[in-house]
Amino acid sequence: MSSNPHVQVVVGARPNFVKVAPLWQRLQGQERLRLSLIHTGQHYDYAMSQVFFEQLEIPRPHRCLDVGSQSHTRQTAEVLQHMEDVLLEDRPDVLVVIGDVNSTPAAALAAVKLGIPVAHVEAGLRSFDGTMPEEVNRILTDRMSTLLFATEPAALANLQREGFDAAAVHLVGNVMIDALHAQLPAIRARGAPHGLALGAQPYVVLTAHRPATVDTPEGLTQLCRIAEVAAGDGLVVFPVHPRTRSALERCGLSGAFERLPNVRMVKPMGYVDFMSLVDSAYCVLTDSGGLQSEAAGLRVPCITLREVTEHVITVEHGSNRLAGLDPDRVAAALEWARHYDRRAATPPPLWDGHAAERIVAVLNQWLDRPREAAA
Ligand code: UD1
Repeated sequence: MSSNPHVQVVVGARPNFVKVAPLWQRLQGQERLRLSLIHTGQHYDYAMSQVFFEQLEIPRPHRCLDVGSQSHTRQTAEVLQHMEDVLLEDRPDVLVVIGDVNSTPAAALAAVKLGIPVAHVEAGLRSFDGTMPEEVNRILTDRMSTLLFATEPAALANLQREGFDAAAVHLVGNVMIDALHAQLPAIRARGAPHGLALGAQPYVVLTAHRPATVDTPEGLTQLCRIAEVAAGDGLVVFPVHPRTRSALERCGLSGAFERLPNVRMVKPMGYVDFMSLVDSAYCVLTDSGGLQSEAAGLRVPCITLREVTEHVITVEHGSNRLAGLDPDRVAAALEWARHYDRRAATPPPLWDGHAAERIVAVLNQWLDRPREAAA
């Protein structure tokens, strides 16, 4: 290994951008490291990609692979092919991949085929729902990784049960919470969300983009009922993901949402705007994974519109309730959320803003390992 090891980091989609920001900042503080950032282009719209680079001060990627939106198989295959070219040229000492989007296992596979070690940030999470594309991505990526960075004890336990070498697995906390800590002054300074004229009325934030929720008319109809239940009692602000926007149009259901008097459908937002929207909400309704963590970080109660979650610590810790796509269960959970005491809530252990620091410490140690151990 050279005295200036090369650490290459790959990002592809919106949740990756939030997670890479604090990590990149920490890596940059290590003068001896050579760093490169690859953007696969899985997300490409300004609102889904560039605004995150700007607000989170992530540098311009060294390379953009421009894979864009395609079927999951084609998107994965294209990242795999392009990453092979990149890795053959750059030959990094380690490839860092993040989370569970399609770009993650694709980049990891290209690396392991070339004998380049992979480090996985956010390893070990399991929903045990094999129909989720992300669950498949998580399992595959962990299997290919030499270093596994877990966010929470349940993730560590999953990896132990799956037989991973204890020396490879590190409980470091959650880099999404690092990003939140770093941006909290900007989030709080932004105050109540702009342009929405929300005034002082209580509101909930609704997000939904998972295939299981939005890819069928039945799922979207349930979502509409849930929005109606939540709107019975205040405003519902619904930033609409592009996948959801096109699904609503395809199923002819946009009008059903638009007709709900208390529901405001808005465009996807940048990080600071969205987090300030969440911070001032009394509750979040979502099928997203990352938002369950971010809500816990902001001490805002979260109602998850799924039957299972990979972020079990948020449920154990009392900030998250699972309600499926069932309006009655959502109604009951909204009652819980209305009485949730934010001041008494505490974040999960190690969700303290220092996860990236721990990751970089482990990476440094690993890069300095004796050569025999590397063989
Ligand atoms: C992906 C991730 C998901 C993550 C989500 C965050 C996978 C399997 N899923 O889902 O884990 O929670 O990102 O957003 O990787 N689109 C645009 N502009 C963009 C990106 C997407 O219009 O910049 C539209 C396209 O029509 C595309 C659709 O959104 O077909 C879905 O995008 P895709 O990247 O396939 O997956 P997401 O649903 O965004």
